[in-house]
Amino acid sequence: MSAVPAPSPLPLDLRGRPLRDLRLSVIEACNFRCPYCMPADRVPDDYGFDSASRLSFDEIETLVRGCVALGVSKLRLTGGEPLLRKRLPLLVERLAAIDGLDDIALTTNGSLLAAQARALRDAGLRRITVSLDALDPQRFSQMTGGRGDIADVLAGIEAAQAAGFSSIKLNCVVERGINDDQVLPLLEHFRGSGHVLRFIEYMDVGTCNGWVRDRVVPSAELRDRIAERWPLRALEANYRGEVASRYAFADGQGEVGFVSSVSEPFCGDCHRARVSADGKLYTCLFAGDGHDLGPALAQGESALRDRVATLWTHRGDRYSELRGARGASRRHVEMYLIGG
Ligand code: GTP
Ligand code: 5AD
Ligand code: SF4
Ligand code: SF4
Repeated sequence: MSAVPAPSPLPLDLRGRPLRDLRLSVIEACNFRCPYCMPADRVPDDYGFDSASRLSFDEIETLVRGCVALGVSKLRLTGGEPLLRKRLPLLVERLAAIDGLDDIALTTNGSLLAAQARALRDAGLRRITVSLDALDPQRFSQMTGGRGDIADVLAGIEAAQAAGFSSIKLNCVVERGINDDQVLPLLEHFRGSGHVLRFIEYMDVGTCNGWVRDRVVPSAELRDRIAERWPLRALEANYRGEVASRYAFADGQGEVGFVSSVSEPFCGDCHRARVSADGKLYTCLFAGDGHDLGPALAQGESALRDRVATLWTHRGDRYSELRGARGASRRHVEMYLIGG
């Protein structure tokens, strides 16, 4: 009888954190130009993204299988705008068939969702998050660099619900003096709908959004503002390391979440690796450089696994805890390359 090799232990990073979540960008292009992510003056319409550099579906499948063998059980597909990637449902179908992957989610700007929600659902996608920074049509247009129509996004959310997606998460990045007046109208609209609004502190990701701390509305302040109108009760996290802190409306009309990466960093439980559409692994949302997985991927799953395990065991990132301090990197990958 031939001896079966003992499975290697799952890698831990330098802070003892396992690798559990993979956030994979399938495309860096986007049809919006949100000023906090991809301002049009820095990334014009004819910017010339190189579709040839994107990982193929075969490479993506190898990557995800390799990461699952290292402990990943959650996958989030991101962009740019992932629904711009051709034949995305086919990719979802292939990934949904991977044993050990318990959860596949997608983050989208929602503009193309109405046409694709059903195919994505049929392909095995089970969770959708839609970015939504304003309800007012003019403000929504401004928040998307003049590209987005709120009606399309609302239609996308409805279509997703009709296709069977429930508890859709709606992410709103809040900037003081820009869209913080949209918080209560958004809640008014979605409270009681079964969808979950989450308010995200404006972050200093990337290099082109001219971030200033004064524009961050700390979640504690926002929570107080909301609770004045609708009393809130704190909820337990759904799982260890959950990014959003959750609150229930005391009147039973659902819940609201806050992602407070600036005022209350959560690096201690960060189990997330990000891979850009061109196959570079980033060990932090704020990393300056990615690690090219291309050569390892070309050799197959085992080489890929070794490469990712080595990178993970050297990881020490905790940018949000260091923000502003000496030793915190100033060079950050652009948000649209790794999808948040
Ligand atoms: P689930 O709990 O699985 O639904 O997902 P999530 O809440 O982790 O996912 P989502 O992508 O919706 O995260 C919400 C926002 O939090 C993202 O858009 C990012 O802006 C921010 N975020 C997510 N992960 C991190 C992280 O590791 N570090 C920081 N600083 N921000 C993060
Ligand atoms: N600060 C906070 N969140 C951001 N996102 C993009 N840029 C920023 C930023 N500067 C969020 C988007 C979306 C996800 C992809 O990342 O709103 O929900
Ligand atoms: Fe596109 Fe999302 Fe960036 Fe807006 S935040 S420009 S929708 S990738
Ligand atoms: Fe993880 Fe980096 Fe975000 Fe900290 S700042 S939670 S290490 S991605």
